[in-house]
Amino acid sequence: MKKVKVFIPATVSNVACGFDILGFPIMSFGDEMAVRKTDKKGLKITKVKGYDVPLDITKNVATVSAMKLLDDIKTDYGFEFEITKNIIPGSGIGSSGASAAGSVYAINKLLGDPFSNKELIKYAMGGEVISSVSEHADNVAPALLGGLVMVKSINPQQIINLPLLPDLFCFIINPKIQVKTSYSRQILPSKIDMNLVTSQVSNFGGLIHSLHTKDYDLLKSSLKDSIVEQHRKKLIPKFDEVKEKCIELGALGCSISGSGPSIFAITKGEDLAKKIEEEVTKIYQETNIEFSTYISKISSEGVSVIDSE
Ligand code: HSE
Repeated sequence: MKKVKVFIPATVSNVACGFDILGFPIMSFGDEMAVRKTDKKGLKITKVKGYDVPLDITKNVATVSAMKLLDDIKTDYGFEFEITKNIIPGSGIGSSGASAAGSVYAINKLLGDPFSNKELIKYAMGGEVISSVSEHADNVAPALLGGLVMVKSINPQQIINLPLLPDLFCFIINPKIQVKTSYSRQILPSKIDMNLVTSQVSNFGGLIHSLHTKDYDLLKSSLKDSIVEQHRKKLIPKFDEVKEKCIELGALGCSISGSGPSIFAITKGEDLAKKIEEEVTKIYQETNIEFSTYISKISSEGVSVIDSE
């Protein structure tokens, strides 16, 4: 194989009570990346389409991740990247995670799959750190593995694919304002009230149990964020109104996607996700902010090859 083109899904991370440790991919939307072997050693980004990301290989998450992988496996050839960035950087739906996951996945394919997708997570994380200034795998792990993923530990790596309940859909609204992950982390408190920690731990436990017992009511009472959302929601216009509407319409949960400004809601069934899309669109049309909405089944698919030569 000389050239491979991959699709990398956008991802919802944190998923309410799982700050830095839970995430899932959105299959209806993502980036594309074509990577080609070159005779000349080294990396080069030949083209970036869509949203603007650096061409400098030391500043682009995709090539920094690739360098981490190539530190461990030497080649006597190089790689050229053509990146189609559909996911806006700073949108909260895993833009940098997609670049990181896509590049290591594509290079691994061109090398003949020496690594498993789980093994690729550490290289992707090593690249993503340049954009968020913190090591977390709750975007890159679901982008690489698919499904609802729990990052129990990054060192040593313990990453678990959780069971999915049938018929779970996700609605997302992405207001077109940029919230940098580094800033969104900076505004979080360094000390947290013990009662909030207790509530978060109980919701996280409830969520995991609900998936194993197929208990939608328990899932609904657990999809809550007691710690992070209250600090970040001020960065997101109309967050409270959107959340209230989603819950009123019957969503199982609604919170901030990743570090924001995107908001997600989880529903049982696609019809409810569509109804929510309709109503939340009305709320956002009252602002002068541009936005996009997405609906996706929470699927077990992650990054995939769409073309190869
Ligand atoms: N878990 C991270 C955060 C996701 O919320 O800061 C950002 O990519």
